[in-house]
Amino acid sequence: KERKLILAVESSCDETSVAVIEDGSKILSNIVASQVKSHQRFGGVVPEVASRHHVEEMTVCIEEALVEAQIEPEELSGVAVTYGPGLVGALLIGISAAKAFAWAHDLPLIPVNHMAGHIYAAHFVEPLQFPLMALLVSGGHTELVYMKETGSFEIIGETRDDAAGEAYDKVGRVLGLTYPSGKEIDALAHLGQDTYHFPRAMIKEDNYDFSFSGLKSSFINTVHNAQQRDEELSVKDLAASFQASVIDVLVDKTIRACKEYPVKQLVMAGGVAANKGLRDRFSEEVAKELPGVTFIVPPLKLCGDNAAMIGAAAFVEAEKGHIADYHLNADPSLTF
Ligand code: KG4
Ligand code: ZN
Repeated sequence: KERKLILAVESSCDETSVAVIEDGSKILSNIVASQVKSHQRFGGVVPEVASRHHVEEMTVCIEEALVEAQIEPEELSGVAVTYGPGLVGALLIGISAAKAFAWAHDLPLIPVNHMAGHIYAAHFVEPLQFPLMALLVSGGHTELVYMKETGSFEIIGETRDDAAGEAYDKVGRVLGLTYPSGKEIDALAHLGQDTYHFPRAMIKEDNYDFSFSGLKSSFINTVHNAQQRDEELSVKDLAASFQASVIDVLVDKTIRACKEYPVKQLVMAGGVAANKGLRDRFSEEVAKELPGVTFIVPPLKLCGDNAAMIGAAAFVEAEKGHIADYHLNADPSLTF
């Protein structure tokens, strides 16, 4: 086959997504069915509800992805699927669908790590060049990953407690915002000032780890104390102060890591990479502090969970000969 077409399936959390990717770098279709509305009234993703939605949406998304890409199954070279990390029930729906499709059309099955997918989303912006540093920031993860070469991942630092996105969602809840609240806090932060001066945990420590639970507690205490004393609170300033703390630690440690490791590119990826404050600060700091390093961040719609990024990562996996058999199982706590 002249062009390599991969059908990619993603169902690790609350989006059902199927994409068709050409040669690992061109998106022919990327269907994303979000279930976020079904989980909002629970204030978080309910695993059982997620699995049920994936069952309903999966075959429809596969159909749509093929139609939009104008591709017949016979033209495909492989089927890629996220097998972890994520919710076990949710992952299993995608894995079962991918296996069935691969079996029916006699295609190789390519297993993909969801977090590797987030990094490879940057490949749609600009070809990845190694070595690179990736800051992965999502609802479940906050980690610095050093990639010496394509397909090689070394976690050099990570959160000791909450993920950055999780912290956004938890403080959002205290402010009475709708889940997930990262986007809304980001918008509010731009209207306020850092007047509350929350702590910058571990910023001075000589490692690349993070911690966000202290910040979250500090935020919650500030709100509760003010409520008890009937004091006025500025939601905008609270959001701005919270966001300033998150940005300071993420930027400081990531820039430091990029000075220590011989990187050509810095990639920021995952749901929290959609954050405007974070994107702006990184652009500034990289230009100032890291001459010769290119900063790449995927466009907004490729920051959140999607199958296009899984297809891009799968291309690399397939080149390396990483093919699964039909025993492939979900690995909810898969790491690099
Ligand atoms: O990668 P993702 O879509 O799902 C996971 O794999 O976790 O990330 C979702 C997370 C949520 O916690 C959400 O609040 C956060 O990304 N998020 C943001 C923004 N947009 C989404 N956090 C901060 N600022 C944003 N603009
Ligand atoms: Zn994700």
